This record gives sequence, structure tokens and C-alpha cells, in this order.
Amino acid sequence: MNIEILERDEHSLTFLVEGISIEMANAIRRIILSEIPVMAIDEVIILKNDSVLYDEILAHRLGLIPLTTDLETYKLPQECECGGYGCPLCQVSLTCEITNTTNSPLMIYSRDLKSNDPKIVPVSPDIPIIKIDKNDSIIFEAYAVLGTAKEHVKWQAVSNIFYRYLPDVSIDSERCKDCSDKCEGGKMCPERLFRYSEKNAPSLIEDYWRYCTLCEACAKNCPNKAINVNWKENSYIFSIESDGVLPFNVLIKKTFEIFLEKLDEFENKLMNLQIET
Ligand code: F3S
Repeated sequence: MNIEILERDEHSLTFLVEGISIEMANAIRRIILSEIPVMAIDEVIILKNDSVLYDEILAHRLGLIPLTTDLETYKLPQECECGGYGCPLCQVSLTCEITNTTNSPLMIYSRDLKSNDPKIVPVSPDIPIIKIDKNDSIIFEAYAVLGTAKEHVKWQAVSNIFYRYLPDVSIDSERCKDCSDKCEGGKMCPERLFRYSEKNAPSLIEDYWRYCTLCEACAKNCPNKAINVNWKENSYIFSIESDGVLPFNVLIKKTFEIFLEKLDEFENKLMNLQIET
């Protein structure tokens, strides 16, 4: 197996994986999408809400705020010794108590949530939550716990993850010689991955495979069938977009921990299977 990171920044990661089956690629995608635990607000006690929004809407908005997650310290409520009732090992409290003393409406932002653990805070301080008018107040206490997106999408560890085949596009330059057109096929590429020279047949830019979407517009529009669009077996380009709840290295490590746990469970169940002969 070969893995190469192609692009990486704070919120996105693109990497190439060679030598794994489509089933394994899909298992990785599904684990990252729905089985990595992250923190999200799950319970809210609203003591005062003078805004025009109903309590339910406020609670819903709070649940969707991405929170930084610490998987070393916290446990899933169902796995906690407290039995899920809420203790410092499985629950974080975020409070907000604000009265608008200005003469104009006041927007409450995610930065106004005061967490009892500085490691569990909103990923961005600038997420608008609710607006209150002058002399109005908002007072609530919210409780965040770990959960997975199998239960609710607010616990999704990434915003998006997908993979695509590694493109393998070739040009038969012999066939290009018979063509009077200035490469009708190449001109149709929506990603503009072809380059042209007066003397030679058209060619692809060096790292065309990073951008090629395998749309086949080039091959379909080539009058001499000189362009061949294919993809490499067992090679995939993964793209992950994150809202920042977990660093990418923690996300990938946890993915393989869960993957191996599942394999162990499967093996144990197979070993204990009583098959009548
Ligand atoms: Fe362009 Fe052909 Fe790929 S049209 S996007 S090089 S399949």
C-alpha cells in the first residue's frame, strides 16, 4: 500500500492511496463519516429567553455549533462509569448569561459560551446564535457530550469525505497526425488539462490526474478516437473537508482503531459461531 498526501490545510486534506480494494476504501469513508465520536451540545436548560426565537430553535442552533473535541479525556456517555447521567468524564457544560444593556439589538455569538473545560470550545468564535433587543436577556446552560453521526448529524466528525478513482488518460499521438482539427477533444475538457504546441500532438499537463474528473468529454469529442480515458485499479484520491472539531492526525488514527476493533469483533464472532454439520 502506498499513501501520499497531495494537499493539506487547516480544513481540508487530500491524499492518494494505492493498493487497497474498493471495499476497504468505502469502509474507511463510512467510518470517518459516521463512527468517529465528537463533542456536540445535546441538552440545554433555558432559564430566560427574551428573543423572538422559540426555545426549541435556540436549542437546535446550539446543537449544531461545532466544538473542539478531546478524545483522550472524554468517554461516550453509554461507556462512562456514571452510566450516562453526566459526570466530568463524559459531559462538558457551556453557559451563557447576557443582558443587552446597549440601545440597539445585540447578537449573541458562539464566543459568548463559557465552557467549564477550555479544551472543549466552539471551533469558531464568530457563529451567530441569537439576537436580543435592548434590555432583553438570555440565560441558559448547555451540556455537550460525545456522540457519533450514526445517531445525529451534529456529531459528524467531518463536513464531507469522498474518494474518486485515480485517472489514467492517454493520447495516441499517431492518430493525432491524421487530425486536421486543433484537438476538438482536448478543447472540451472542462478542467483545461490539455496543452498544445504547433509541432507536436496535444499532451496533458503533468499532474492532470489531480484535477481530472473522468468526465470523458475529451474522449467523446475526439474525432479520431485518439484519447483514451481510464482509471487505475485499486488507487483512490480521498478528499476530506473538516470543520475543525478534530485534527486530521487524530481523525485518521481513530478511524483505524475503529476499523481494527470491527475486524476483531468479526473474527471473534466467526470463531464462536456454532455451525451444525
Ligand atoms: Fe478533462 Fe478528459 Fe479528464 S475532459 S477532466 S481530461 S476525462
